[in-house]
Amino acid sequence: MAGARFWREKASRYNGLGARCGVCGKVFFPPRVVCDNCGRKSIGQMKAFQLKGHGTVHSFSVVHEPPRGFETQIPYIVGLIEMDEGVKLTAQIVDIEPKDVHIGMRVKDVFRKVREEGNTGIPVVRPPAGTDVYMLARIWEWWPILELEKGKTYRLHLSSMDWQHGFSLQPVNINIQVHPNYEMVLTIKPTQAGEFSVVCNEYCGVGHHTMLGRIHVVEK
Ligand code: CUA
Repeated sequence: MAGARFWREKASRYNGLGARCGVCGKVFFPPRVVCDNCGRKSIGQMKAFQLKGHGTVHSFSVVHEPPRGFETQIPYIVGLIEMDEGVKLTAQIVDIEPKDVHIGMRVKDVFRKVREEGNTGIPVVRPPAGTDVYMLARIWEWWPILELEKGKTYRLHLSSMDWQHGFSLQPVNINIQVHPNYEMVLTIKPTQAGEFSVVCNEYCGVGHHTMLGRIHVVEK
């Protein structure tokens, strides 16, 4: 999927968060602001809706010619999954050999992560070196925790799911305002291994002072 599209939809894609029409009950994924059954009547009636994460394989294909960055993963399986709520989505099918996948097979969503940290269990993700990496601000956390490799260049995308937050990277003192509906993209190349903190430096409510994120830089 294109980076820009993935980014626009990432909050719902990471979490299986869709929308449900308050008038007719139809479920959408990715979320929509207007129901295609109810049209204008549904404006303002669309509610966030959490997909339960279970579905059935509707169709699939095995990828042998990977896009750049996925060379080490071939062969991998991409499926069109019909979720139990009736919406279809594309996803990688994991933990199974390609020969064992079949249409109609039951699947459950998983989110791959390296480990979790902190008492809210924020995932630590380790994106491939040199790729686009994403950090999402929301009250009151930075999500996820990133693990980056020293000496590699990344494009760091920052955005907010709710309102204005500040991205202050310590101790290097890079400061950026993060506004909802805008994406800030910075090219970064960590030159030093260690643990870096992300402090929110825009007042964002009662939990503002607890809003800390983390970036780990490791030597390969
Ligand atoms: Cu987020 Cu202050």
